[in-house]
Amino acid sequence: MNETGGRIRIAGGKPLSGEVVISGAKNAALPALAATLLTANEVSLLNLPRVADVTTMLELISHLGAEIKEEKGVKIRAEKIESHQAPYELVKRMRASVLVLGPLLARTGRAIVAMPGGCAIGARPIDLHLTGLSRLGAEITVRHGYVEARAKRLRGAEYYFNTVTVTGTEHIMMAATLAKGKTILQNCAQEPEVVDLAHLLTKMGAKIEGAGTPTIIIEGVEELDGASHSIIPDRIEAGTYLIASAITGGGVKLKKVAPKHLTSLLDKLIEAGASLKIKGTEVELTGLEELKPVDVRTAPYPGFPTDMQAQWTSLMTQAEGTSIITETIFENRFMHISELMRMGANIRIEGRSAIVTGKTPLSGALVTATDLRASASLVIAGLVAEGETIVENIYHLERGYEDLVGKLRQLGAEIEKIG
Ligand code: UD1
Repeated sequence: MNETGGRIRIAGGKPLSGEVVISGAKNAALPALAATLLTANEVSLLNLPRVADVTTMLELISHLGAEIKEEKGVKIRAEKIESHQAPYELVKRMRASVLVLGPLLARTGRAIVAMPGGCAIGARPIDLHLTGLSRLGAEITVRHGYVEARAKRLRGAEYYFNTVTVTGTEHIMMAATLAKGKTILQNCAQEPEVVDLAHLLTKMGAKIEGAGTPTIIIEGVEELDGASHSIIPDRIEAGTYLIASAITGGGVKLKKVAPKHLTSLLDKLIEAGASLKIKGTEVELTGLEELKPVDVRTAPYPGFPTDMQAQWTSLMTQAEGTSIITETIFENRFMHISELMRMGANIRIEGRSAIVTGKTPLSGALVTATDLRASASLVIAGLVAEGETIVENIYHLERGYEDLVGKLRQLGAEIEKIG
């Protein structure tokens, strides 16, 4: 990724309060958009978040031939596939672009997608996506930085994911919907985003059982139809506002969330001393007497999300005592830590764990965002830091948070974009 620029200025010390409406989940929206390529009919998606990654995916599917209308949500119709190739420019901008490979291949018999490179949080290979597709009968060649997949028609097969992979599970599940015969996928990711995609595909006529469990069974069909679907709420955006509220000693009510998707985080917040009120699709942090140190260990769903790890680390800098934060999913996801230390945090990295000793006052500084969730952790630290924090490279934030600055301002934060 080579985009640069964009800065946010935060004047710390204001407790957040009020209500915030949570947007649709970026990580559910991206596979849903890729799934629209599986049918020649119209798919209508509601609650798509207005974030840069969604714009990139819309650009990609439109490049491949989809017609897109913004009308009560977004209506997408990929009546004809006009290109079989996802260019490097778009894949480089967003790894989830590889998700178009399986749908294109399943629908037309051929697809070419640029190989995503490494990224800020680790090597992030796509080997399981490719072996999964070849198990379904695809002939895969990797040449000149591109993956080419061909198959007259995919055929159902059994496939065991060696590592639990979210987009890998989504990818093979999508491809299998149009394969001939039955596919049994084992050791699948159980994330709510996988389940949401299965709901959309089922509405389109796919036959899928077991999404949300480690074994997903797909009975291939000849073709899929259009459908209308509303994307689930973003559990990571929701968690980010809860942590922002907790660190500032405020009280924020989240609206339009799915509390059951937040269980591991809510449990940790309660352990850390937060009082929560959960009612229907609302979660309110009503108070926090004294922030306690709480260890977390990231794990596939329903474990503690790796996408909340950086924000939790910021929170723990303000707890009295020692907490251990262990990252088990990605090998290089501690880049926010040196920036937090520049703000005054006391953190030691030992292997895959960050040992945070608090409470240390944070002081505002010029800090650089390195990836999406790292950026969120720096904003959270800035909200409680003394003085002014400037976060650079905020295009990372814009990839995944809809109107973060506007929503935080609405909650009383002194924050602005400064170009
Ligand atoms: C998705 C999310 C991301 C989240 C991550 C883990 C989207 C668009 N992104 O990313 O926000 O942080 O899940 O919850 O939904 N792996 C392999 N080979 C593969 C695929 C993955 O070794 O072919 C490894 C990865 O390097 C990583 C682990 O599996 O160590 C899990 O990654 P994965 O679940 O695939 O992450 P993403 O789907 O890319």
